[in-house]
Amino acid sequence: MKPRKGRAEACANIALAKYWGKSPRGDNLTATSSLSLTLDNLRTRTEVLLDDSLSEDEVVLSGTALTGRGRERVTALLDRFRSLTGRKVFAHVTTENDFPTAAGLASSASGFAALSVAADAAFQTSLGAARLSSIARRSSASAGRSLYGGYVELRREADTASVVVPGTHFPLSMVVAVVTAQEKPISSTGGMLHTEKTSPYYPAWVDVSESVFESVKVGIVERDFERVANGMEHSARLMHATMMTSVPPVIYLRGATVELMHEVAARRGRGEPVAYTMDAGPNVKILTTPEHEATLGAWLGGFPGVSNVIVCRSGPAAAVLSTDGSLGTAARAEELQ
Ligand code: DP6
Repeated sequence: MKPRKGRAEACANIALAKYWGKSPRGDNLTATSSLSLTLDNLRTRTEVLLDDSLSEDEVVLSGTALTGRGRERVTALLDRFRSLTGRKVFAHVTTENDFPTAAGLASSASGFAALSVAADAAFQTSLGAARLSSIARRSSASAGRSLYGGYVELRREADTASVVVPGTHFPLSMVVAVVTAQEKPISSTGGMLHTEKTSPYYPAWVDVSESVFESVKVGIVERDFERVANGMEHSARLMHATMMTSVPPVIYLRGATVELMHEVAARRGRGEPVAYTMDAGPNVKILTTPEHEATLGAWLGGFPGVSNVIVCRSGPAAAVLSTDGSLGTAARAEELQ
């Protein structure tokens, strides 16, 4: 059979209300409801080339061949397409991020979203955005959200993510302050499984997270920055406090992260539209208005311990790329439904 190629692009997303914990129902369903903003400036491009001469999948991430758990996760996603189509064909997968991998910038979210869309094109399955969101979610729950653009929710134990409102409903910017750390102490999957098992605060986090999620969602729908800011920061602190009370502790935050939390809080107290969040890493993502992003970016650029600043706005849904890679011919995932 002749080789079939699929190419796709997906943007990362940052959760304003966090997912941290797996549902006891399994299948990588989440224990908490989450709400994210898809970001235009953190993108992954992936190509899946089916090749009958291969005896296993080959995965190359930014020029380096993946082995071990990284390759297994890709193979597990491709296995879903092989069992759906009955085709026992393996793939060359090449994937590139336009931002540092494993720096806590949600590369698994954009990575598995792009891989799902590229595999759908290569296997010619035409599954549509909702089924692709489910497939991506099973590989990495946050990836289920990256199938869509704008403000996206993944409800507790839901199979697929869905759009809350498009980014144009409430145009906001997310400015990423990259805080340099030697090494990520533990992956998000490992960190959350460990938290579930050992933190006495975990049940309380799962309990309270639903009302925090609802509050952030109302804030977005009603375009109420202060409400979003308070809910988003609370969600991040609840999640990190829960991790930190695991045994042994999971601490992703570094000194500069905490300094930034203080500074951002002080600035909002003085009337600036700024609010922080952090994921499974030391970077601080600051939500602001498009009018304020340049001032904020300049301030962050000079902040001790910040090595890089990436300014993002609302990004689009994951998309198929034409085989020559041009974006202009992309069919957005919504259009595939
Ligand atoms: C802190 O989606 O990376 O970024 O499903 O185990 O792959 P797996 O976890 P992942 O976890 C993301 C956790 C988070 C919060 C969030 O994005 O909601």
